[in-house]
Amino acid sequence: MRPVKNCIVNKDTKTNPIWLMRQAGRYLPEFREIRKVNQNFIKLCLNENLSSEITLQPIKRFGFDAAIIFSDILMLPYGIGQKVEFEKNFGPKLGDLNLEKIEDVNEDIFTKKINSVYKAISITSNHELLKKRDMIGFVGAPWTILVYMINKMSPKKKLIDSFFDDEILINKLLNLIERFLKIHIKNQVDAGANIIQIFDSWAGLLNDKLSDYIYKPTYNLVDYTKKLGVPVICFPRGIKNYKEFCKIVKPDMINIDYDVDPKKIASEIELPIQGGLDPKILLTDKDKVKNEVEKYLTIFKDHPYVFNLGHGILPETKIELVEQLIKIVKNFK
Ligand code: CP3
Repeated sequence: MRPVKNCIVNKDTKTNPIWLMRQAGRYLPEFREIRKVNQNFIKLCLNENLSSEITLQPIKRFGFDAAIIFSDILMLPYGIGQKVEFEKNFGPKLGDLNLEKIEDVNEDIFTKKINSVYKAISITSNHELLKKRDMIGFVGAPWTILVYMINKMSPKKKLIDSFFDDEILINKLLNLIERFLKIHIKNQVDAGANIIQIFDSWAGLLNDKLSDYIYKPTYNLVDYTKKLGVPVICFPRGIKNYKEFCKIVKPDMINIDYDVDPKKIASEIELPIQGGLDPKILLTDKDKVKNEVEKYLTIFKDHPYVFNLGHGILPETKIELVEQLIKIVKNFK
């Protein structure tokens, strides 16, 4: 494997680095305070000072080993001119998809529209607290972005009947999304991100066409990011064959979801591994947290492993259990 910079994506198994997906978010009272007076989520993401402050909240409270920029994967469709709104108790709602309009958008227009995201990365990565920590930038994988752009809402709500019908549209859109994701990655790296994570939250929707819709476009992004000199973590949530994914897409690290058997993963994947713990465990009690966390740490004891969850931390998570989780991870030998 290509040597990576001294960051959490390395071969040191002794330090048990930890950060949590969605660590900057609704389970934190200090986040809810800010959110209460900032009802428009996109506007909040585009406020570089608040975005940086929110990014640092979990670092200040828990001392995680990496900060992930407070933003959203849907800043991409927003940046290329599709309307994106977040409705309370519903989630994202996207506007009509107008390809002709999108084709008029160039790199400059895109970058200017979401420039505050890059400013937020720059402010955060220059912060004292980031001297010894990683600054994770992120994107949605082309497939997951496409799902939102065509379906216009989370498939958790509903997947429109005609979703898979128009292969010409799907292929055209995947190319277009890939082009802008590369710009988005480069801008984040230029601003100070030293790791990129690619979230493919809806990888599990596909049973065939994986090669065209997931492997190829994601490989292109991984390859592009590596050439910028930055390690890349992939999270193909729900994918049936992690081993095949790793072999073809070749990320520097793979984040597993909570449905896969960690023992099987440990035996068949050599790449550094991140994550796995079911976020619902953080809604239970101290004993269950201890058992489950130690299960993952034991299985990956001799493997390069970054502790994380198998999906984003849930808003109802109790702060005390996060504190306990970190203690266990840091004290585990
Ligand atoms: O991890 C972090 O702390 C950094 C910030 C981050 C957010 N979204 C902030 C956010 C990251 C990395 C994301 C990624 C993201 N966004 C994904 C991929 C990971 C995943 O969870 O599967 C997806 C699918 C989205 C799209 C999205 N954004 C949805 C579906 C929703 C609404 C439902 C939900 O889970 O909250 C959001 C809103 C969102 N993005 C919030 C936050 C903190 C909640 C906003 C709020 O209502 O306060």
